[in-house]
Amino acid sequence: MSISQDKILEIRSKANIVEIISEYVPLIQKGKNYFGICPFHDDHNPSMSVSPEKQIYTCFVCGAHGNVFSFIMDYENLSFVEAVKIVGNKVGVKVDVEVPRINKNINEKQKKMFDIYDIANKYYQNQLNTSEGKRAREYLKNRDIDDDIIKEFEIGLSTKSLLTDLLIKKGYSDKELLESGITSSNNDKIYDTFSNRIMFPLYDIEGKVVGFSGRIFDDSDNSKYVNSKESEIFKKSKIIYNYHKAKDYARREKYVIITEGFMDVIALYKRGIKNVVATMGTAITSEHIGLIKKISTNVILCFDGDNAGEKATISCSNELIKNNVMPKIIRLRDKLDPDDFIKKYGVDKFKEEISNALSYLDYKVNYYKNNTNFDNSEEVSDYIKNVLSELKYENDKVIIEIILKRLSDDTNVSVVTLNNMLKNEIITEVKPIEEKKKVLVLNKYDKAERRLIFYMLRYPEVIKIYDKNKCFFPTQSFRYLVNEILDYYKKYEQINIADFISHLNDKKELLDALSVVDVMNISDNYSYEEIMDYINLLNDYNIEQEIKRLTNLFKSEINSDKKTELAEKIAKLKVRENNEND
Ligand code: UTP
Ligand code: MN
Repeated sequence: MSISQDKILEIRSKANIVEIISEYVPLIQKGKNYFGICPFHDDHNPSMSVSPEKQIYTCFVCGAHGNVFSFIMDYENLSFVEAVKIVGNKVGVKVDVEVPRINKNINEKQKKMFDIYDIANKYYQNQLNTSEGKRAREYLKNRDIDDDIIKEFEIGLSTKSLLTDLLIKKGYSDKELLESGITSSNNDKIYDTFSNRIMFPLYDIEGKVVGFSGRIFDDSDNSKYVNSKESEIFKKSKIIYNYHKAKDYARREKYVIITEGFMDVIALYKRGIKNVVATMGTAITSEHIGLIKKISTNVILCFDGDNAGEKATISCSNELIKNNVMPKIIRLRDKLDPDDFIKKYGVDKFKEEISNALSYLDYKVNYYKNNTNFDNSEEVSDYIKNVLSELKYENDKVIIEIILKRLSDDTNVSVVTLNNMLKNEIITEVKPIEEKKKVLVLNKYDKAERRLIFYMLRYPEVIKIYDKNKCFFPTQSFRYLVNEILDYYKKYEQINIADFISHLNDKKELLDALSVVDVMNISDNYSYEEIMDYINLLNDYNIEQEIKRLTNLFKSEINSDKKTELAEKIAKLKVRENNEND
């Protein structure tokens, strides 16, 4: 089922994009447009403009562009239908369409896997409540995990190997079950991958179960956690534990805490600290960071207090910094992880740790200091060098002075010497830099295509001129876009960018092409002659290309009749080319 075009138009026209975006991002009026920090990249200056006149937003840095529906889709990670429903609610237009749980990008195979995981998740949760679950329930109780939390995080239990049988009865094939990772095999025998473990579902960013982590709960010497293997729907590089739940809290609190373990997330969540996610012990990737940046660029790393946690803190920070996120750091005392820290010291002490989180620079200086034996002059010298190398990236003169003063106190080397050393530091490391914007060199034909579309989007008159003098657009995406504009115009007898965007809602390539054109900074005024010039230019180009193509054919053709035929065609085209240039 889908929503009718009329309803989409109605909702779009009733919605005021400025009001709706303001619910997510503060906007300030400047002239006829509004400006805010762009939520789609790591923005520090307001670079997103929102136009009440055109009812669209545009980011001049990252190129994000769209109407009220695209904003909600990208901000909340929702499908078009879901976004229309949300905006509909806001403007008082009810949409009675069941939102499909599975979005359209999901293929049949993936859909089956989601279903398998859904069944498994329910099954495991049920198992926890049976008599067989008694010991597991006791274990959870001992860890302060109450029934509410069990429900909230859908914690379950795998017992004997019965889930595989159940799924086979439901019609899934051995192959499907093996691929999903729910089932494993050994010498042709298949059996449940998980048995006798407390089951924690792992969710994708939309909150769908895509895997499990199973924990031992008795004294068996098996590995502590067993995780689902990667599958069609479970990609470790795309999974962050609790992302789907934490995202609203992180946006509200304006920061996000990253821990190592999902038990830490659960422990914090239980105590009302809900803007928290976990890496689940794997190295953080730039894909993970891309997701994190969508919910907040203020990141606090709170890994385990042990040595492994220290290493992870440094490597994760390096990856974050590479991606232009400067984290703050919490290092917990007594080598504790957040879960155990709260148990020992209480949640208020943990909140203190949050407010006192160190800047990355302070953390790094402390780290070097703690690892220096001050009786060993070589180590002291290394300490100085390490700190100075961190300072190369610091722009704040006051902070540099403070750190140099501290360094001087620690080492008895004068501030003057340290300062000289800093100045002479040869910068060898590459500082993370903003992604270089690709400089596109447009030729006159590229320009003609773009300008034609630019004016067609603004003036129905230009669409009419084009309709009478159609030409072939050499660039495929622009060619399709122009056809869409013509179709749209014929249907609605007008053109409005905001509605045209909804019309294109699932055609990503065309939306990208549209945003490239729409953000061009050229005069809003056109003349008939100018439009015709662009059309003629594209015609010339096409003739030229055709002449080139035929000339190549001519050269390789050996049949003399065909050669003559080609020569005639070329001659005709050359005449046309000359006429058009007159
Ligand atoms: P930890 O060993 O810190 O677990 O691993 P934890 O969160 O303290 O768990 P409890 O308190 O002992 O129950 C952190 C994360 O690393 C992954 C898990 O995702 C875990 O949350 N891990 C750990 C594994 O995948 N396998 C393991 O054997 C151990
Ligand atoms: Mn723990």
